[in-house]
Amino acid sequence: MKVQVCIIGGGPSGLLLSQLLHRQGIETVVLEKHTRDHVLGRIRAGVLEHGFAALMREAGCGERMDREGERHHGFLIAHAGGRMDRVDLHRYSGGNSVLVYGQTELTRDLYDGRETSGAATMFEAEGVALHDITSPRPWVSYRSRGEPCRVDCDYIVGADGFHGMSRHSIPRDVLREYERVYPFGWLGVLSRTPPVSPELIYVRHERGFALCSLRSQVLSRYYVQVPLSDRAAAWSDEAFWAELRRRLPAEVAARLITGPSIEKSIAPLRSFVAEPMRHGRLFLAGDAAHIVPPTGAKGLNSAGADIHYLYHAMRAHYRHNDDTGLEAYSQKALTRVWQAQRFSWWMTAMLHRFPDNGSYDDRLQQAELSYLFSSESALASLAENYVGLPY
Ligand code: APR
Ligand code: PHB
Repeated sequence: MKVQVCIIGGGPSGLLLSQLLHRQGIETVVLEKHTRDHVLGRIRAGVLEHGFAALMREAGCGERMDREGERHHGFLIAHAGGRMDRVDLHRYSGGNSVLVYGQTELTRDLYDGRETSGAATMFEAEGVALHDITSPRPWVSYRSRGEPCRVDCDYIVGADGFHGMSRHSIPRDVLREYERVYPFGWLGVLSRTPPVSPELIYVRHERGFALCSLRSQVLSRYYVQVPLSDRAAAWSDEAFWAELRRRLPAEVAARLITGPSIEKSIAPLRSFVAEPMRHGRLFLAGDAAHIVPPTGAKGLNSAGADIHYLYHAMRAHYRHNDDTGLEAYSQKALTRVWQAQRFSWWMTAMLHRFPDNGSYDDRLQQAELSYLFSSESALASLAENYVGLPY
């Protein structure tokens, strides 16, 4: 097979880029290791920056998102003995907001979009390997049902997530990795119950962080911080609800409606960046190049910024023979990636209980929160990052 751009990975990054390029008449193929059902079985965060939502519309896949997604103009932070303060995103970010719409639904919309437009996806592509990435004629090999296959292309995009192989095709003496692993995880529960609050509540509590989120008015998503040694299976639904209640302010806990969990899992928290994001004709995008802890909901949104830069760079290349965007991609993407890293680290550090922290660190967290809610500038800084820095 011969295409202009071969995309490795059928997660939101790869699908969104493919759909955007397809609409510009640029030929792509997506090679996905798993089945569509497997990809759609993953539950992930669901807060979209306005820039990400605009990309979904440009890809022709934003209709259901605009219909079913909820626009949020603020969120709450519970701290200091049950006190709750609101971050007014609208007011402090110059009229912006975020869209609450689950990543699973968004990925489904992207798959439906490509089926309608006839864009090619190879599912269950095994043993994907990249070849000649620093030559003008790179190519990709893989196996489909045991049969060897080959894709010749102009460019390869590695959008195969944190555990993918694309990043490892960059020579060891070129690739630099920066990482911080946090000493706790998030135990998440999805339940078919009405959300406890119309807006998200981030909770700092002496027993550990908690988050009340939602997918719709009948589907809730809750999290509690747990030690990495915990196993999700060892947490009964009752134990989860009891722990969440303990961490919520009393009036919120009193109106929490519980029910059986539909999904329950523990996600470790990690900050990670790989540099550079381009080597020869290979471009990395999304989780393949960077990971954030979920506290600021920046994972998917950071991936969206990469796709924005890459889409415009490739369009300029194919339309106008202009390679400045491709040349600048790694540096431009990384500048924004590090801003998302900083913000996610800051939100995480402010709201979690760190096992090694003493009373001094505890006081610092309290001071950070009391400063935040006493300063218009601090609130504006939080709000502009939460709704998304400009591309
Ligand atoms: N060959 C082909 N596909 C692969 C390979 C491989 N060797 N390895 C992984 N993949 C596929 C995975 O099965 C997955 O579907 O690549 C896809 C990567 O998708 P994601 O992990 O969702 O990464 P990305 O598309 O960058 O999405 C970023 O998803 O992980 C969240 O927090 C993250 O919200 C952010 C968003
Ligand atoms: C979620 O709804 O899963 C979610 C929302 C906000 C976050 C993280 C996760 O910061």
